[in-house]
Amino acid sequence: MLRTGFAIFAVFGISIASFADEVTYRKDIRPLWEQKCSACHGASAPYLGDFKEDQKKFEAMLKGPRMDTYADLIFYIGWPDTGAIMRRLDDGKNAGGKPGNMYQFLGAAEEERQKNLNLFKEWVGKDAWKLNRWKAKGDVPAITKEDVDKIKVKY
Ligand code: HEC
Repeated sequence: MLRTGFAIFAVFGISIASFADEVTYRKDIRPLWEQKCSACHGASAPYLGDFKEDQKKFEAMLKGPRMDTYADLIFYIGWPDTGAIMRRLDDGKNAGGKPGNMYQFLGAAEEERQKNLNLFKEWVGKDAWKLNRWKAKGDVPAITKEDVDKIKVKY
């Protein structure tokens, strides 16, 4: 009985803390990005336009497209590369599919990956975590204006 009571208390404690503490780029995402993404997506990486022109060369150098500032990162969330962060970081569990190919970089162990995925989700907006692109592709419809409105990405 005592143990159950404590468990419930602990769960409430955690959820209240996470509501009070809004996830922001400066406080949460930037430090996480530096730890997990900067080696390949930092200032020495090419902008997406340059990357696409010479993709094989950059991949061999372990460089992905550059996303080292707030403005350069939200490019891959809202527009023009709508949903890229969501598609690449998603664990595939909602869609019943496989994880995006950047999910592995969120942590060394599954627990850490899940924790950091949740941080990204909170930042983008739990209801805004959509894998759709700006335009429809195959069976996947284009993102809706309503979904774009839900994106938070607080600085
Ligand atoms: C070891 C190097 C490496 C690390 C670490 C890495 N990436 Fe990548 N990333 C790449 C490469 C190379 C590509 C381009 C090839 C591809 O599309 O898979 C890429 C592509 C991407 C794309 C797709 C961009 C587009 O073209 O639309 C996103 C989004 C992305 N990475 C996000 C991240 C995030 C967020 C992290 C940190 C959690 C991360 N990556 C960590 C190497 C890396």
